[in-house]
Amino acid sequence: MTQTRQLKLGAMIHGVGGTMDGWRHPAIPSDASVNLGFYKQQALKAESGKFDLVFIADGLYINEKSIPHFLNRFEPITILSALGAVTSRIGLVGTLSTSYSEPFTVARQFASIDHISGGRAGWNVVTSPLEGSALNYGKTHPAHQKRYQIAEEFLEVAKGLWDSWEDDAFIRDKESGVFFDPQKLHRLNHQGAYFSVQGPLNIARSRQGQPVIFQAGSSESGKTLAAKSADAVFTNHENLEDAKRFYQDVKRRAAQYGRTSQEILIFPGIGPIVGRTSAEAEQKYEEVARLVTIENALHFLGRFFDHFDFSQFPLDEPFPDIGDVGSNSFRSTTDKIKQQAKEQNLTLRQVALLAATPRNNFIGTPDTVADLIQQWFEEEAADGFIIHASVPGGLDDFVEQVVPILQERGIFRREYEHDTLRGNLGLPVPRNRYTLARQKLHR
Ligand SMILES: Cc1cc2nc3c(=O)[nH]c(=O)nc-3n(C[C@H](O)[C@H](O)[C@H](O)COP(=O)(O)O)c2cc1C
Repeated sequence: MTQTRQLKLGAMIHGVGGTMDGWRHPAIPSDASVNLGFYKQQALKAESGKFDLVFIADGLYINEKSIPHFLNRFEPITILSALGAVTSRIGLVGTLSTSYSEPFTVARQFASIDHISGGRAGWNVVTSPLEGSALNYGKTHPAHQKRYQIAEEFLEVAKGLWDSWEDDAFIRDKESGVFFDPQKLHRLNHQGAYFSVQGPLNIARSRQGQPVIFQAGSSESGKTLAAKSADAVFTNHENLEDAKRFYQDVKRRAAQYGRTSQEILIFPGIGPIVGRTSAEAEQKYEEVARLVTIENALHFLGRFFDHFDFSQFPLDEPFPDIGDVGSNSFRSTTDKIKQQAKEQNLTLRQVALLAATPRNNFIGTPDTVADLIQQWFEEEAADGFIIHASVPGGLDDFVEQVVPILQERGIFRREYEHDTLRGNLGLPVPRNRYTLARQKLHR
């Protein structure tokens, strides 16, 4: 039987949501970002829809202008650990910064989640765009390029540490008293530009070998890091053509590192809004968009540019020329905002409202949304999607109304194929490097 390519789905669980004012909507619990019941309900809902994974985003700096969800939310590893205990099949992907962590700790944390969940862990590697993060760690904020150099070495070390123990290293023979085979224990002895780590890691490999690596960051450096080291990319594209270009670009780069296109999966993030009619879907969008004030829209826009103060410029004149502000922050996003403002001759007000109340194409009846998803998938703009609720109940609507259509069309599973995240994503299990080397030697 030939296996046809299947769509992958992730659910971003994002508390009160990714907008400034969405928390005010009557249907969203105003404490959702720190409400374990809410997180559990969303994870179980996604699992009932046979999603591949839940996804937890994160950040390390807030101020009074931050998005309400960011002001008071769960730390990713901690909430994933809790979700691991109440779910059984769905993958658990959490965001952790390579600029403000130590590889030994991070490798250990994700390996632990991987064991707790029976091989369902994933790590979304980010480099932390906001300069203020440095104030919380007593460090200097590394520049964009250096952040990616650190990330590359960080990942190399984490992956090395995950191979500290070969799969059959733990003998645990009570009779003989042999707990482990010392031949199958390995020290990394890494000495690099940014990290010095001896190892071994104090936890074994899991059923899926190593946690799945996601990467979020779409600049040139971001794409290169993903192509070299990631299993999947979380990205953001508004239209099909851009998404296709990005998809091909990353796959081409991966091929340069000797990787096949199935070994790196592309997941654009989308916030579908589903209604029984397209008018009902539009109305749901309007209900959320109407809550946004222009003041908050400026704060929302400013955050991408490292909390730049846009209120100093006139609202109804063309988007101001702010030079390279933003290029050390969310570079790929700020480049896109500047380009769009210029091409479409938008005012500051228009840009701020567009950013704060993004209106993606995935709005309409369940069939319309399913059509678009199928088109992006089949035309190779996406291998899967990270779905976030851009209106209250958005994930529930998607699971109940869109997933059955995708299943009916044969592009999405009706049952989990595996019980590990790698298995469900169709990703290879990385062999332990030392076992491989020994086998090559004896061949
Ligand atoms: C789709 C997407 C999602 C991201 N998610 C996060 C996140 O959850 N936490 C975070 O600190 N940074 C996040 N980032 C920021 C990146 O990790 C990176 O620090 C920043 O965007 C600069 O990289 P880039 O210019 O390569 O996009 C995200 C970036 C993108 C494009």
